[in-house]
Amino acid sequence: MCGIVGILGQHEVAPQLVEALKRLEYRGYDSAGIATVDDTGTLERRRATGKLINLSDRLVHEPLTGRAGIGHTRWATHGAATEGNAHPHRYGAVSVVHNGIIENYRELRAELAELGLSPQTDTDTETVALLTGHYLSQGTSPAEAVRATLPRLKGAFALAFLFDGEGDLMIGARRGSPLAVGHGTDEMYLGSDAIALAPFTDRISYLEEGDHVILNRDGAAFFDAEGRPANREVARIDVGATAIDKAGHRHFMAKEIAEQPRVLEDVLSHYIKDGRIVLPEALDFREVDRITLVGCGTASLAGQVARYWFEQIAGLPCETDIASEFRYREPPLSDKSWAIFVSQSGETADTLAALHYAAPRVARTIGVVNVGTSAIAREADVALPTLAGIEVCVASSKAFTCQLAVLAILALKAAHDRGRLDDAALGRHLDDLRAMPALMSQALALSDDCAALAGWLSEASDVIYLGRGALFPVALEGALKLKELSYIHAEGYASGELKHGPIALIDRNVPIVVLAPRDALFDKTVSNMQEVMARHGQVLLISDAEGIASAGSGTHASLAMPSEGGVFQAMLYAVPMQYLAYHTAVAKGTDVDQPRNLAKSVTVE
Ligand code: F6R
Repeated sequence: MCGIVGILGQHEVAPQLVEALKRLEYRGYDSAGIATVDDTGTLERRRATGKLINLSDRLVHEPLTGRAGIGHTRWATHGAATEGNAHPHRYGAVSVVHNGIIENYRELRAELAELGLSPQTDTDTETVALLTGHYLSQGTSPAEAVRATLPRLKGAFALAFLFDGEGDLMIGARRGSPLAVGHGTDEMYLGSDAIALAPFTDRISYLEEGDHVILNRDGAAFFDAEGRPANREVARIDVGATAIDKAGHRHFMAKEIAEQPRVLEDVLSHYIKDGRIVLPEALDFREVDRITLVGCGTASLAGQVARYWFEQIAGLPCETDIASEFRYREPPLSDKSWAIFVSQSGETADTLAALHYAAPRVARTIGVVNVGTSAIAREADVALPTLAGIEVCVASSKAFTCQLAVLAILALKAAHDRGRLDDAALGRHLDDLRAMPALMSQALALSDDCAALAGWLSEASDVIYLGRGALFPVALEGALKLKELSYIHAEGYASGELKHGPIALIDRNVPIVVLAPRDALFDKTVSNMQEVMARHGQVLLISDAEGIASAGSGTHASLAMPSEGGVFQAMLYAVPMQYLAYHTAVAKGTDVDQPRNLAKSVTVE
């Protein structure tokens, strides 16, 4: 949450900062701001509430000059989304942008108040500016002032500092939140991620936990958590892979949904070669006694789907949890178990903390991550890329199905290693997986049918999604997508659980989306659907043509899915979940790619 950027350039930085912030807007869009040091050494800032475009407009009328600058796009944590609370924050000769939370800001405020320094904002970040500015006012150098400030801060942060009178100096610091340094030619950059810096450079270093870095135009001096000079590798990133455009679609979400056949093809051909599963050697499941799957939101739901595969195909005990609970409930973990952390961004604070909890307690940690340079990718014992490509829309779509593909491959490998599948049976499952991209293309053809149902759904104030087995977490995902995109209240339930309470909600105004592939649980799900219809519930049945023919009479509508896909059909059923939410959001006119109150990368807990 929150994106930060800093540039020591050769040209006017304001337009470059805005360009970089555009690429970081997925991290928050409550307000945006920049500060620059102009050629006379004067530090100035401009801020605006709402989307970045408001800041761009302001800069047209009130331009900022200078070749050194920092910028910020905010997801509000402390203090409302007002201009006063927007970053950069300034006190005296220093200006600061921050991603994270300063947890001890109340204590710091009390201490600063005794020095006669009173905050002008409701934010936690301002205390960083006040502290640093205070040290500067005592005659310390900028580097000394930052070094005095950092140990005073509790919580998580990525920070960038800019100083009045210093046109060739920028300082960055990281604890808990990611921060990258970009190396240009006589230009240096800081950014929350490499995507932000991709228009300027493909040479990137990452700060490690506790590091700070002092930047001048001719280079970067890194210091570790103890303040000792440190070397941080410069890696070349694939700038092409950071291209961001809608490719003719109206929204990033539409593009990302439509990309699923191709990215699934990519991920499957990465892990399946010549009919064999290709995974790092370390991933031999023979001695593993349990799998723990952890993530947040959609990523945690991918783990919940995979639990059915690990248990049913591989016979491997498996537990799942959301990271924010897992990290604090002190679960006992077997030292023969493996823990898998699923994350698109690879930076989600709770998932990263859950990894830190598990790492000393389990035999192996595995990150199933989309952003290959992320903290989870770097810190897990084994990182398995999901290869979905950049996902810009805040609501996850293609990253989810690619997570499922990687987890399906892991479950099959586990089943084969543990003797639950012989070569022939494994081959049949792999054939089902390899058929997925083509089946996914068929499922995409349901877009118009979903659009035709959007008017009906958009009138509802509550929508219920039902599924059984691996389709239960897909029902949860359908409800989550609808909530976040269209702001309609929605819940997912295990079909068999409905009559234990939630059925009281059913009346003719509540659409019920029933996910019923023709698997071993089909008849049971259909019985639950009948119970709903007997109470005048308006059912949308999602099944294959035969399932609809046998059970669809009396429903409000149906969507006919491909019947193939074997045990991995859950992946396909994600598509109507995505399209129903997408088209309903379009029908309601909500902001599809950047829904209110959300951010793509949740780097605070
Ligand atoms: C929902 C969504 C979120 C994320 C969650 C975890 O559409 O995208 O629920 O899945 O915030 O994010 P990552 O996968 O980056 O850890």
